[in-house]
Amino acid sequence: MKIAILGGTFDPIHNGHLHIAKLAADAFAIDKVLFIPTGHPPHKACPFANGRHRLHMTQLAIESDPRFAVSDLEVFRDGTTYTIDTLRALHEDFHQVHWHYIIGADTLAVLDSWREFDQVCKMCSFIVALRPGNKIREVELNIARLMKYGADIHVLDAFGPDISSTTIRSRAAQGESLAGMVPEKVADYIDQYHFYQNALLRDAILNWLRQNLSLKRYRHVLGVEHSAVSLAMRYGADENQASLAALLHDCAKEFDFQTLCDLVKRAGLDDPDFAFAPHLMHAPAGSIFAREQFGVTDEAILHAICVHTLGCDQMSLLDKILFLADVIEPSRCFEGVEKLREAAFHNLNQSCLMAARGTMIETLRQNSFLHPQTLRTYNHLLIHDQEER
Ligand SMILES: [Fe+2]
Ligand SMILES: [Fe+2]
Repeated sequence: MKIAILGGTFDPIHNGHLHIAKLAADAFAIDKVLFIPTGHPPHKACPFANGRHRLHMTQLAIESDPRFAVSDLEVFRDGTTYTIDTLRALHEDFHQVHWHYIIGADTLAVLDSWREFDQVCKMCSFIVALRPGNKIREVELNIARLMKYGADIHVLDAFGPDISSTTIRSRAAQGESLAGMVPEKVADYIDQYHFYQNALLRDAILNWLRQNLSLKRYRHVLGVEHSAVSLAMRYGADENQASLAALLHDCAKEFDFQTLCDLVKRAGLDDPDFAFAPHLMHAPAGSIFAREQFGVTDEAILHAICVHTLGCDQMSLLDKILFLADVIEPSRCFEGVEKLREAAFHNLNQSCLMAARGTMIETLRQNSFLHPQTLRTYNHLLIHDQEER
């Protein structure tokens, strides 16, 4: 039996993917094409649609061809999933199969950087899908280089339609028709759940962050988004709100002192205690900047950004999610972070309390100014937690 794997974010899956799968199946007498939506590595921006939606859209899309099937092997995995791990799992589940892996020609240049690439070559052959604009000479040179690893590579000498998921998301965000780009059932599904409604705003924010933040800060922000969206899923909060609040929470973090002062004054959010800890201004300043630069008007998002460092007396679910995500995101490595990460998915209030306590202890340890709101936040969380018991 010959099975070809087609992996991708599928955000959303579109007719281009389906066309390539059909062409490959016809050209190489493939019995099954297995679509594998990818998971979400923490160092990458969250997909626009969550794993559940991407899996569901893929299921709807593949109904058109009995040779197509879908696998949830990667989509719900939290960390980075390597192809070698997926292949090992598939080899265990299916026997007597000749595996093929469908890749785009652009991937050829980096294929040998895949983890345990020499082992991958032993476990599958590759089908390379060309795109208009690919230079054949370059493709041939890459293939010649990869054959030294023992890679078995076949070129699919036909193009699919030139469709991109980015275009589809932006059309969906503007309420434009997706006819001819995705199967009808997928278009209806997107229409029903609106997960691309903020696609244009999110693209604009991500572009701005990439251009204006240091790489370290940008990675932190993506990590916070990852944690915030996971917590939103866990506690039934709005994932879109969590994603936007997380992406914007540190947008003012690298502004100079005067810009921060101007922003908080203009919004009437100035606080005499900021004189003792000026860096705290980046939270309220960020909420003003989010409103003015990106036109964010959702008060719940703006409030969560505003209170993400100090907390507040009555924290909303979104406030708590961002407050905590900022502390537990994957690149944080302080002592006790693992315990806090675990607690975050069991009891939100209790873990916010742990985070507030940790902030206070660290501030005092460093002989730094402890803002009175940090203590008030701690007390409110403590009293609320005792009331809940
Ligand atoms: Fe911050
Ligand atoms: Fe942060």
